[in-house]
Parts: sequence; structure tokens; C-alpha cells
Amino acid sequence: SNTNKTVNERLLNICELLEENVSYYNWVGFYFRNGEKEELILGPYVGAPTDHTVIPFGKGICGQVAVSNKNFVVPDVTAQDNYIACSISVKAEIVIPIFVKGANIGQIDIDSNTPDPFTKQDEDFLEFVCEQVASIL
Ligand code: SME
Repeated sequence: SNTNKTVNERLLNICELLEENVSYYNWVGFYFRNGEKEELILGPYVGAPTDHTVIPFGKGICGQVAVSNKNFVVPDVTAQDNYIACSISVKAEIVIPIFVKGANIGQIDIDSNTPDPFTKQDEDFLEFVCEQVASIL
């Protein structure tokens, strides 16, 4: 069976592949629910270091997805009032939840320095990535 370290290495590899291969994916990371607590903890990521290693449910784009269980595509971060800024260079964000046995256990979070870059193709592709991730957790 996988050790936690191996899972985190695989998750980091996924972040690296996505950031390196999609020009408008500039920060790629995972957040996971902290046990039964209503908060997210930052997992493996690539991109600029962030101060936001713990995000309460409901707060920011990530915290809203923890509650809604829905994809959240943000074409323009300046138009969001419940948004946690990590870097002034970020223009857009996409967050896709990860489900294990129907439970929302975390998410992939991608920031873009390009305005309005995300399409339905990104959502479909990242849902597929999240299904693969769920299968290795
Ligand atoms: N912008 C996110 C916070 C996480 S950073 O993008 C890495 C949010 O509003 O939840």
C-alpha cells in the first residue's frame, strides 16, 4: 500500500506536470480537509509560496468550494468579494473538488496570471485529474 509520503510525492508530480505543460496554470496546488474540522490544509503545490496554509470553510474561493461541492471558475479575481489574494500577479482562479466515496475531501486549486483563461475543457480535464487523484488517496 502507499505511504503518505509516496502519495504526497505523486501529488507534487501532478502539480509539476500541470504547471509545466499548461502555460496559463501558474500556481497549482492541493488543499485537503483537516479531519473532521471545517478547515482546509495546504498540501503539495508548485508556484509562489503562500501564507494561506489553513483556510476555514466558507472563506475565499477554496473555502466556498469546501461548502458548495461545486467547481468554481473565477475569470477575474478582482470581481470576487470573498477572495483570498495570494499574489498580486494572479488574475484568475479555478477550484475543482475531489470526492472520495461521495465526500468532498479536498480540491485542486489553480491560479492564472492570464485574465479569463479557463474554459469548460479545463473543468472537464481537471475533474478527470481529481478522479485520478481520488483513486490514489
Ligand atoms: N485564492 C484562494 C486562496 C488560495 S491561493 O490561491 C493559493 C482563495 O480565494 O481561496
